[in-house]
Amino acid sequence: MSKNLAVWEKAKREGRKMTMITAYDYPFARLADAAGVDAVLVGDSLGMMVAGEADTLPVSLEQMEYHTRIVAKGITRALVMADLPFGSFEESPAQAFRASARLLKAGADIVKLEGGAPMVETVSFLSQRAIPVCAHIGLTPQHVRQLGGFKRQGKTADAAARLIEDALALAEAGARMVLMEAIPSELATEITKRVPVPTIGIGAGNGTDGQVLVLHDVLGLNPDKAPGFAKRYLDGADLVQTALSQYAEEVRGSIFPQG
Ligand code: KIV
Ligand code: NA
Repeated sequence: MSKNLAVWEKAKREGRKMTMITAYDYPFARLADAAGVDAVLVGDSLGMMVAGEADTLPVSLEQMEYHTRIVAKGITRALVMADLPFGSFEESPAQAFRASARLLKAGADIVKLEGGAPMVETVSFLSQRAIPVCAHIGLTPQHVRQLGGFKRQGKTADAAARLIEDALALAEAGARMVLMEAIPSELATEITKRVPVPTIGIGAGNGTDGQVLVLHDVLGLNPDKAPGFAKRYLDGADLVQTALSQYAEEVRGSIFPQG
């Protein structure tokens, strides 16, 4: 059962790669679970992927709760990770606990929060109060205003050293996983070697313990919006559009329904 975090820790020790994909609703959660993916992430990327927003900042805790519930209904085996959305956890450990508890009650097995050193105290607080936490570092999309865009991180020696320190401190504070987005492959590999907990990468090369991608990028559903590091495994937009235009044509031509 990939729901058991000990399975992830064992996989890291044994050098087996773990797999994660985002899911935002029941049908795709069922498909990911049946495909044998180890974890689904109810990412706040849903703001961009399913709500048409330009970034993840408008996503609310209520929306995360709703999507976590409908994803969890489709899962029997995979780990369910849910994002703490912007504004729901940064103020204080107590605020983060209240938000995390709502996501766990909605069906999450673990919550993910963005941030390095400033989140160490919160990670410790949550970890001591029944909330498993994944720390998300590197490119943290909730910080897009401050970062000035969705830019790769950890490119200078100083920035790389800070990310290593942050990862170690977060794991020390009790984070059960560290997710690294859009950082150099060598840096992600080094962090993976140094932290005792499983790492998950996205746009961070091949040296992490696991990989995650956004579902809509993998399925080619928003092909104009996929980042360069994503890989498309299906021309989803083409397939769906072809099916829908065929349906519309058949109705217009009185081919469907028959009789
Ligand atoms: O929200 C999301 O999909 C994420 C992944 C990009 C890691 O946080
Ligand atoms: Na996210």
